[in-house]
Amino acid sequence: MFMKIIVAKDPKQAGMKGHEIFADALNNGAQVFGLATGSTPLTTYEQIANSQLDFSDRLSINLDEYKGISPDNDQSYQYFMDKNLFSKKAFKHSYLPNGLATDDAAEIKRYDQVIAENPIDLQLLGLGLNGHIGFNEPGTSFDGGTHVVDLTESTINANSRFFDNIDDVPKQAYSMGIGSIMKSKKILLEAYGEKKADIVAKMIEGPVTEDVPASVLQNHPDVVVILDEASASKL
Ligand code: GLP
Repeated sequence: MFMKIIVAKDPKQAGMKGHEIFADALNNGAQVFGLATGSTPLTTYEQIANSQLDFSDRLSINLDEYKGISPDNDQSYQYFMDKNLFSKKAFKHSYLPNGLATDDAAEIKRYDQVIAENPIDLQLLGLGLNGHIGFNEPGTSFDGGTHVVDLTESTINANSRFFDNIDDVPKQAYSMGIGSIMKSKKILLEAYGEKKADIVAKMIEGPVTEDVPASVLQNHPDVVVILDEASASKL
């Protein structure tokens, strides 16, 4: 296994490290950037947004999108990406799953094709409290492609902080599969805060198991993990 672990003082410093990894990839000719949502990537996106980096001839492909909410709903991942990155730093084209798709099989096929035609050079990941990456919850096969996910109670609860009412939290999402994530040339996973310390230790030091989706990263040849002091405290 090769995981490079960087421990920054806090999420802000970590975001600067994240920005450096994006800058290096861009300067080394990376064409396709896999992007993530959640609170974790925000400091990295902020640094990128405020930088001189130019992504206008590169592509981005996001990991996931809630099912059943429209792109202009302020809880959609499309809205999140527009607000936090794309409005400030545009890519030539940015792909996300279509949360309003009605034909699951067609949407899955479309997204898998997007990923196959545009191999991801650098994939950014956050980390769910139960070890999920994208929306690949525990038990997801390590080989799969895009799929519809029934979100676990842990994830629905964790995400309810962004919604007025827990009943408004979507129960399903489209997610890029672990097989596709693992095909990315390089992977950057970020995880911050004391709450993530246990799962970070399992991801890095525990057995590789579908019970902890992120543990699969131990099998990837080029992974960088950026932590802050709190999330690294149990290593
Ligand atoms: C959601 C997203 C994941 C993200 C996770 C952690 O479930 N689908 O991609 O990694 O939340 O979110 P946060 O970074 O806010 O802790």
